[in-house]
Amino acid sequence: MRNYLSIKDIDNLSEWVEEVKMLKIAPKKFKALGEGKTICLLFFNNSLRTRLSTQKAAINLGMEVMVMNFGSEGWALEYGDGTIMNQGKSEHVKEAAQVVSQFCDIMAIRAFAKLEDKEKDEAEEVLNGFAKYASIPIVNMESSTAHPLQALADAITLAENNSKIRPKVVLSWAPHPKALPHAVANSFVKMMQLQDADFVITHPEGYELNPEITKGCTIEHNQEKALENADFVYVKNWSSYADYGKVLNQDSNWMMTQEKLGKAKFMHCLPVRRNVVVEDAVLDSDQSLVIEQANNRTFSAQIVLKKILESIK
Ligand code: CP
Repeated sequence: MRNYLSIKDIDNLSEWVEEVKMLKIAPKKFKALGEGKTICLLFFNNSLRTRLSTQKAAINLGMEVMVMNFGSEGWALEYGDGTIMNQGKSEHVKEAAQVVSQFCDIMAIRAFAKLEDKEKDEAEEVLNGFAKYASIPIVNMESSTAHPLQALADAITLAENNSKIRPKVVLSWAPHPKALPHAVANSFVKMMQLQDADFVITHPEGYELNPEITKGCTIEHNQEKALENADFVYVKNWSSYADYGKVLNQDSNWMMTQEKLGKAKFMHCLPVRRNVVVEDAVLDSDQSLVIEQANNRTFSAQIVLKKILESIK
């Protein structure tokens, strides 16, 4: 595998999840694989989990790690072809990607959706710009439309906590004061499409995700009905896709409560706003898997880096 840009780059999800079990028992077993190799993590946006877990994964594999907060410390980049760069942008991604490629062996990039222009966000100009001009593999640490490292960690967490042949998994929208991107929800949906599960998406009307991504999925606007007999409830806010990037609804009745959760396990990618997205009683209960999910971020990154290192060694 050269790049890990989306869930599509996973050739066999169940095999990867099985391999992770072995990595969790012996995280340093493949330390020799990354010896003499360097990963550079470029952050155009904030992070806690992605930053530390990807570093940890690289260290477990024997790699050196360089980190740059590109969004605040790098030159403002131009992505368009043939642009006359006489405005605020100082450097073109053509040079930036080639320069970074000389310093390391793998490049990982975080660049969120700006939620101002759907077409621009869907073009993934940062991730695709670096992927186009870099001469080394690229890993997506959350782009405008996808968060495949998170979805892989979620798949691992589901596998570790599931005891049924066909569990019921519900993705439930939750209120939030800020407009958030669709990346986590998109990748979770794509990952669920690779699994044998009774998968239901629930959200208020107007919060439909990209219909090309949810094609074939069950969508239920009645949250109570959607949650009936759920085994896992994944809660996430996202802004409107149709009315792009807008907050249409902050109805606190959509917040996840212990009563609504019933006996199901609770999942969220974090960070999470307590008592807005989900009440304290859920997060503080044994039903919450959020800390396990965060821990599995190390192993989702580690399996991805291992596959890439195996392909470039
Ligand atoms: N879930 C996740 O990606 O967390 P961070 O934004 O803190 O990296």
